[in-house]
Parts: sequence; structure tokens; C-alpha cells
Amino acid sequence: MRQRPPLTPLVDALPSTVPFVGPEAQERERGHAFRARIGANESSFGPSPRVIERMAEIAGDMWMYCDPDNHDLKVAVAAHHGVKVENVVIGEGIDGLLALVARMYVAPGDAVVTSLGAYPTFNFHIAGVGGRLVTVPYENDRESLDGLLAAVRKDKAPLVYLSNPDNPMGSWWEANELIRFIEALPETTMLVLDEAYGELGPASALPPIDISRPNVIRMRTFSKAYGLAGIRCGYAVAEAQVIRDFEKIRNHYGVSRMAQIAGVEALADQDYLQSVVPRVAAGRRRIAGIAEVNGLKPLASATNFVTIDCGGDGAFALKVLQGLLSRDVFIRKPMVPVLDRCIRVSVGLDHELDIFAEELPGALALAAARGN
Ligand SMILES: Cc1ncc(COP(=O)(O)O)c(C=O)c1O
Repeated sequence: MRQRPPLTPLVDALPSTVPFVGPEAQERERGHAFRARIGANESSFGPSPRVIERMAEIAGDMWMYCDPDNHDLKVAVAAHHGVKVENVVIGEGIDGLLALVARMYVAPGDAVVTSLGAYPTFNFHIAGVGGRLVTVPYENDRESLDGLLAAVRKDKAPLVYLSNPDNPMGSWWEANELIRFIEALPETTMLVLDEAYGELGPASALPPIDISRPNVIRMRTFSKAYGLAGIRCGYAVAEAQVIRDFEKIRNHYGVSRMAQIAGVEALADQDYLQSVVPRVAAGRRRIAGIAEVNGLKPLASATNFVTIDCGGDGAFALKVLQGLLSRDVFIRKPMVPVLDRCIRVSVGLDHELDIFAEELPGALALAAARGN
């Protein structure tokens, strides 16, 4: 038998799992496209027309490498949040920044605290550096601040993850509760506060940014409210030394020239963002209404999706999901009990939500029939 170059023991021991199966992979397997793409919490409203125009304008410049300092985008982010350029790092989406945080704060065997069923890409990156995940159950469909804190203390975790507003449940904590949580954290524990949906929920859920605190990293993205998931661009705001530590390991040519320029333009067009927020809220109301008409319970959401309690167990909700997929409606669902009783539907364009409304009753009927 041929020999092969050995992997590191760490990578060798990892399972071959991927955090997400994309809709594209599902379409390839099915042999045809979905009619409604309302499963990945993208923004079907797309980016601002100004951003589209700017990207078209610079398409011919893509023969040039990007600015490895991400200078202009950092300046724009810093101005947007009222911090200094030294407090900003740009990355390939929040996902890319999470990978860096895992490398920065987690040695093999270290405990890392997150919620059971929370954003899986974080877990994937922690596994990749040999961290030991400690998971805290949700309480009443919300991440448990007290539970996370207790786990951090018990396991002396160097890192804790919290998404606010939260994916997959759409729930959120108010800023005063978060501030209490942050103040109670040990100084030796870094908090990743993932605010991917921060622009879409109530402003009261966002604590003021405090860059004097060395154990909080705030993460934002252009993927959600700004409608630019495809360019892969996000940023973190933190104390200056934390940012210098990112600089030691980040991929300096990782954020494309297109992404940097689009990001600047997106931040400059806050009017567009302000026009998207109520459209997303209207979409949430529409999804909630569709759920209710079908006898299901929509959960309150501060994001661009609505998580819907299907009223049964995980197996029932899975059948509903499968029924919708088979009717060409791409949605997702939480997988961990008791969150798994739900399906998760992203806000889409009117015609996509029309298709969801048309297909949900059939998917439910089929799930109920198969349940017997
Ligand atoms: C909580 C959360 N964090 C991060 C991301 C990914 O963000 P990005 O596209 O910036 O990598 C998502 C996307 O669904 C998310 O739900």
C-alpha cells in the first residue's frame, strides 16, 4: 500500500464534517434549482444600488491585489462606530474572523464555552485548533447568560461565544443584560460577541462599544443587512492590542479588493440600510403570519429570519423541512433538542414568501400523515 504524508495528529483526529451543506450542493444533488432561497439568512433585497454601481465600475481593476492593510475600509468602519482605526480588523466575513480568534485564544485541550445549538461555524473552528467545547443549553429559546457565565467560571475557559441577536432562534438580550454579563466575566476570558444581525434588531440590544476593555471582541458583517454575503467581508472592533494580535496571524491578502471597496460604499449608504431594516421587519411579520395561519407558533425575532415552532418534536419539524425542500423551498432548521422542534425561514422577496405560503400547508399535511 502507498504511504501518504502524515497529517498533524490534531487534524488526523478530526471528523470530516462540514458546518453547513450549502443550497448549491443541494441543488446539484437534486438536479434542479430551488424556487425560493430562504434558508441561509442572506438578504434577497441585495446591496445598495450605489454599491452595485461601484462594484461594476471597479470590475476592471481586479488585476490588482487588494490593499493588504484594508486601510480605506478600516477608516470607514472606525468612523461609523466612533472608534480609532487601531480598533478595527477586517476579515473574510465573521466566519474568517472566528477562525482567527480560535487560533489566538485556544490551545489544544482548552475549554471553550458556547450555547448548545448555537452558530456551528464557531464550533468547527474551535475543533480545528483542538479546543474542547463546553455547551450550555438554551433557556426558553434564548442563550443563557447565567449558564454561560457559570460554565466559563467552572471550566476556566479562555473564550466564550455569544451571538446577539441569536441564530438559530432569532432571540436577543437587551444591552443592560449584556453589560452585566460582560462585567461579570473573568478578565482572562475573551468574549466573542457576534452581532451578525446587529443592524436588524432593536438598537436597545446593542451595548455601547467600549474599546478600553481587552476581553470583548464585537463582530459585524456585510453579509446580512448590507446584502453582501457573496463578497465575504466582515469586521471586528476591539481594544488596540487585541487588534494588533489579529495582525500577527490574519491572511493579509484575504479580503478582496472588490470586498474592501464595496464595504466602504455600503457603509456610506446608510439611507439604503435604513430602507432595508423596515423591509426585513415586514418580511418577518409576513412569515409570522403565514406560520400562524397554519397553526404554528412564530418566535419573536430580531434578525432577518423567523424561527417557527412546528408544535411537535424534532422528527416532525424535520419532516416539515423535508416537505418544503421537496417542494423546492430552501429553508433550514435547528438540529439540537429542544430547538429542533422548529424550522427557520429567512426573509425573502415577496414572491419567495408567496411560494412558502403556498407550499407550507402541503408540507405540514405530509409531515402529519407520515407521523401516524
Ligand atoms: C450568528 C452568525 N454569525 C456569523 C455568520 C456568518 O457571517 P459572515 O457571512 O460574515 O461570515 C452568520 C451567518 O449566518 C450567523 O448567523
